[in-house]
Amino acid sequence: MLGNFSYHNATKLYFGDDSLKYLNDELPKYGKNIQLIYGGGSIKRNGIYDAIVEILKANGKNIVEDAGVMPNPTVDKLREGIKIARDNKVDLLLAVGGGSCCDYAKAVSVSVHCDEDAWEKYFIRFEEPTCEIVPVACVLTMAGTGSEMNGGSVITNHATKQKIGHVFGDNVMPKFSILNPKFTFSLPKRQMIAGIYDIFNHICEQYFSGNDDNTSDYLAEGLMRSVIHSSLIAVENPEDYEARSNIMWSATWALNTLIGRGKTQDWMVHMLGQAVGAYTDATHGMTLAAVSLPYYKMIMPYGLQKFKRFAVNVWNVNAEGKSDEEVANEGLKALENWMRKIGVTMKISELGATPEMIEGIADATFILQGGYKVLTRDEVVKVLKESL
Ligand code: NZQ
Ligand code: ZN
Repeated sequence: MLGNFSYHNATKLYFGDDSLKYLNDELPKYGKNIQLIYGGGSIKRNGIYDAIVEILKANGKNIVEDAGVMPNPTVDKLREGIKIARDNKVDLLLAVGGGSCCDYAKAVSVSVHCDEDAWEKYFIRFEEPTCEIVPVACVLTMAGTGSEMNGGSVITNHATKQKIGHVFGDNVMPKFSILNPKFTFSLPKRQMIAGIYDIFNHICEQYFSGNDDNTSDYLAEGLMRSVIHSSLIAVENPEDYEARSNIMWSATWALNTLIGRGKTQDWMVHMLGQAVGAYTDATHGMTLAAVSLPYYKMIMPYGLQKFKRFAVNVWNVNAEGKSDEEVANEGLKALENWMRKIGVTMKISELGATPEMIEGIADATFILQGGYKVLTRDEVVKVLKESL
């Protein structure tokens, strides 16, 4: 454990199949006007909307509707949300949905009392908020992003073909999040699988870096094993509460900053995936899956010992009598087999990417420095071509 760091998590969690009732404990802490943020209507179909509205009314709140947050929320929608918040002087932004609603709420929260353009300030110039921040809370309906317990906010700009994330500080993280695994039962299977791969890749992004003996890596291996185990059960039986609850809890811990402590971290699969997303608007977890194997094959020689450890500790590969490279390759093969078994998308062409887009996607890919190999632009292009 060679890194220097501090650790604090600002979000209070309520977990379990009775967790929604704790909204009653939290609501009195905030003012009257609640911006109720949700997506395309799934919460109306599965009854979550009615249950929340009842609690809000019982607590004497004034509900300000903000519906239609799309997957991969856009800068146009963000501007709409900021206006709703300003016009109604809202006291709390309550996001009910997946990562998109929660990310969007955070972006609104830092922009309501800010005169500058939110996209330019936070997603182009990466400035920190200097204005009053409207508190955010989340009722999570999809496990994957970890947005319920982190400061991340990813916004897409279709006009400029950019999808950019800003990781805000403690003061922007949800004040509280409610995690009821049963709320995820109505997710379409493809979304559940995309979420599972997103979780797994968040762990990989923090695991594949550094050469020191690091407690964070042992935590990461345990989480990966749990995700693999539960995913296989959930794919067979999406209503297995135990598996879905483990997936939901793993998602939170995969990206609430804990397992990245003391590490430089990679995050290149996400940079590639986000650039693909900027061009295709495809489901986040699937964009990651489709670029992962070509990327990991490329960087494996530079982090060989960690890839060997991944094979042995996560996938139970028997290393006896084999070279480091053989073991590492078997680990990536096991990863591929699992990806195929749960049914993620393995090609960016299946997500709408075309050979003509490759140069543009490469331009939209931020190249980060924290992993085992700093890619050149040519290598970015190579990974993308191999992912087609
Ligand atoms: O809009 P509705 O009708 O709610 O439908 C959603 C949406 O179509 C549906 N859904 C969610 N819960 C459901 C449900 N349908 C039925 N029953 C339920 N219980 O699922 C679809 C996808 O939802 P979305 O919120 O877009 O998915 P996800 O949670 O994967 O969020 C994706 C966004 O998060 C960003 C991604 O880039 C993407 O923009 N990320 C945020 C991160 C963070 N904050 O740290 C990190 C991640 O790496 C990621 O980049
Ligand atoms: Zn992700």
